[in-house]
Amino acid sequence: MKGLILSGGKGTRLRPITYTGAKQLVPVANKPILFYVIEDLVTAGIDDIGIVVGDTGDQIRQAVGDGSRWNVRVTYVQQSRPGGLAHAVKESREFLGNERFILCLGDNVTEGGVSELVSEFATGSMNCSIVLTEVKDPSGFGVAILEGDRVARLVEKPREPISNLALVGIYLFDRNVWEAIDSLRPSFRGELEITDAIQYLVQNGFDVRPHIHRGWWLDTGKKDDVLEANRILLELIPPAIHGYVDGGSLLAGRVVVGADARIINSVIRGPVAIGERTVVENAYIGPFTAIADDCVVRESEIEHSIVMEHCHIEGVRGRIESSLIGRDVEIRRAPERPSAHRLTLGDHSRVEVQQ
Ligand code: DAU
Repeated sequence: MKGLILSGGKGTRLRPITYTGAKQLVPVANKPILFYVIEDLVTAGIDDIGIVVGDTGDQIRQAVGDGSRWNVRVTYVQQSRPGGLAHAVKESREFLGNERFILCLGDNVTEGGVSELVSEFATGSMNCSIVLTEVKDPSGFGVAILEGDRVARLVEKPREPISNLALVGIYLFDRNVWEAIDSLRPSFRGELEITDAIQYLVQNGFDVRPHIHRGWWLDTGKKDDVLEANRILLELIPPAIHGYVDGGSLLAGRVVVGADARIINSVIRGPVAIGERTVVENAYIGPFTAIADDCVVRESEIEHSIVMEHCHIEGVRGRIESSLIGRDVEIRRAPERPSAHRLTLGDHSRVEVQQ
């Protein structure tokens, strides 16, 4: 079986971070979210993986490489435009051929991986398998209506609340998907929807099986979702201290300190990940925080946040929390007078200040 991961699209809900970077490369617990998806496929025994890329393709190619680090083969498919999930699959036809395949989204991770699904589908006779999970507000997803253990109908972004079973973005197909995709017309949002392709399979008597997922599911489309993913995945990383921690520092709970990092006179309360060569000095790093490589956090306090590479945070008075801080950002204490905030912010930045 082959694997296809979609990593194109626009990422408008994660601006300004996605002005300069692919949303699938936003780090969660100091690892790009896309790597978790790749690793789930690798664990399921899939060693031939296609990655669909769009405008941010060069960054994704650079970060992922040829797959040799996971001992798999990675083939890139450049999507001509962000024309929808089914459009992305259509443009991957040469890579997929007529083999069975699993389709995943490059910014979604589910608890427990996909091994069971893959082995069931590889040996089974069904034409398609979809993963569903119960959500409170299904309006932002594709949803399915079940009759017994059969899929009766699917709708993308339903206006009426017809079902609370959302498609989590993991799909398994056999060659019949090509007939379904060839029948598609653009949806209300101008995209070729994979949901409509599955609806075609249901309508035309193909065997489409639902699989109800009961663990966590992380769709990292927005800031709060990324922070939630960071919270959950930090609790899973094995603690390890590779850097230097001085005698005046206190580390509690699950903490990772990267190679050549230096923790001086600071308190770190895990789960926390500190990247390589990062310096934490006279600082407090609270639970659910990931600080990437080559950062400085000095005389400041931060928790429940993600700080990307090469940031410098120094002398900040109030605690920074629930924040997503992009690469090469500087946050420093202003001179005493006049008492004012001085900001250099890109388009679509969000700042919340408290006096
Ligand atoms: O997150 C689950 C939902 O994903 C499902 O419930 C929906 O049925 C499904 O349509 C999809 O909805 P979204 O609107 O959230 O999809 P999004 O545009 O965020 O794209 C998902 C991933 O696919 C993302 O990593 C970008 C990539 N993508 C997207 C498009 C539109 C592509 O690679 N090419 C594309 O043309």
